[in-house]
Amino acid sequence: MPIQWFPGHMHATRQALAKRLPDIDVVIELLDARLPGSSTNPLLAELARAAGGKPALKVLNKQDLADPDTTALWLAHLKAQPGTNAIALDASDTAPARQLVPACRALAPLRGGMVKPLRVLICGIPNVGKSTLINTLVGKRKAKTGDEAGITKVEQRIALANDVDLYDTPGMLWPRIVVEESGWHLAASGAVGRNAYDETEVALHLLARVRQHYGQRLQQRYKLGVLDGLSDEALLTELGRKRVALRTGAQVDLQQAAEIAINDFRSTAWGRVSLETPADFAGWQAAGAEREAARKARAAARVARKPPQRGGPDQQPWPGPGSGPGSERGPDAEIEPAKD
Ligand code: G4P
Repeated sequence: MPIQWFPGHMHATRQALAKRLPDIDVVIELLDARLPGSSTNPLLAELARAAGGKPALKVLNKQDLADPDTTALWLAHLKAQPGTNAIALDASDTAPARQLVPACRALAPLRGGMVKPLRVLICGIPNVGKSTLINTLVGKRKAKTGDEAGITKVEQRIALANDVDLYDTPGMLWPRIVVEESGWHLAASGAVGRNAYDETEVALHLLARVRQHYGQRLQQRYKLGVLDGLSDEALLTELGRKRVALRTGAQVDLQQAAEIAINDFRSTAWGRVSLETPADFAGWQAAGAEREAARKARAAARVARKPPQRGGPDQQPWPGPGSGPGSERGPDAEIEPAKD
């Protein structure tokens, strides 16, 4: 089952963003440097387009966890996109404004100064390190929260410089994760609520991915022989056996092994690992778009096959519960915000 997670508070964030974006000059999108494609929010791009298009600064955050060579590929890829700049960052930078402010100014050169302060919005998926960054940026200055007209309760404003205002928003994902690999990577990174995925499935996908590029590191970490010929499940089992130090013949608890694998990834026990390159992600995106188009076509065909409703205009069936306007969920109906 592909992973989906869009709880109600994210729905509220989406609405607040749609309201705020028209007044914004530059959007900073904080990405997870280990999964820059999967942590790019397609909903944000859609909202920015609806607001007339906004220059974007992509920040590859937590770069200390990602493979530096892959991060360099992503920076070049992102910078080549129109109206886009990109930098890499991590929490060890004690003065991130020194990079962020000039990068934003370059994207909106006509803004700035006390008459036309530069208005910047910062967004990102949950757990991408936004609060940590904001705390570093705020330093001793006080963040303003919802104390003036137009600033919603889900947003805070921070003065990055005398003429640069930064508007913060809560972490947000998107209603439908079309790229299947993205669901696994987002879960592995910690961006998705714990109840929205199965750890064993996530760990199996994570190992399948990581062994392709960093197989030797797994061998070293868990003192394994060659991985060729070992299925992903067998690899997870071996990992569990080695880490839990089981007696010979004892059964490995796959759930426990999965938790270990995910924690080892998150804590860089496998070294600095990136889960995707720009080329990988482009391929997954194309496959995801194809699957999505096929899904929509199937749903449309189902609707077309539905027999016409019985009863003419004089013989309307009695409307059942939930049959009022808008209750029908068509093939493209948006997923309801789920509970946390
Ligand atoms: P969020 O607001 O985007 O949800 O993320 P937040 O800042 O709360 O950070 C999520 C986790 O990521 C925190 O760890 C935080 O310490 C860690 N983190 C933030 N920035 C970086 C970074 O640049 N590099 C690395 N390696 N980690 C980073 P946590 O374990 O969930 O919490 P804590 O125990 O550190 O408080």
